[in-house]
Amino acid sequence: LQQNTTLDDKLLEICTLLEANISHYDWVGFYFKNGDKNELKLGPYVGEPTDHEIIPFGKGICGQVAVSNENFVVPDVAAQDNYIACSITVKAEIVIPIFVNGENIGQIDIDSSTADPFTEADERFLEFVCSKVSELLQAS
Ligand code: SME
Repeated sequence: LQQNTTLDDKLLEICTLLEANISHYDWVGFYFKNGDKNELKLGPYVGEPTDHEIIPFGKGICGQVAVSNENFVVPDVAAQDNYIACSITVKAEIVIPIFVNGENIGQIDIDSSTADPFTEADERFLEFVCSKVSELLQAS
């Protein structure tokens, strides 16, 4: 990663690398807990602009991960009741929480236009990415 860049620059670079190099990652972004409010706020992302800059805890896949503290792999978004659609081209989604000192402080969110593309390898890889993001957050 480049030196002398801001945290948001580094997070955006991670999004860019993931979207460019992994064919089934079509929208890659970060959501973070918004201060002491019970909501997530959109951070750096790559892909189509989204209207969902703020997501209340519990709402959609992202909001559910904010309270469950667990990975959420959605093979078919059409089969989810509690789902916030950002684009009609999205078929699947994966959300992995980011922990700092054991606290769930945000997440990486990835949408795919491929049906059922995410495997346990994606989960393990993205958990690793999130652990590196956690280090960046603590160093900033
Ligand atoms: N689909 C997400 C909302 C965020 S967009 O994918 C960028 C959800 O259901 O939480």
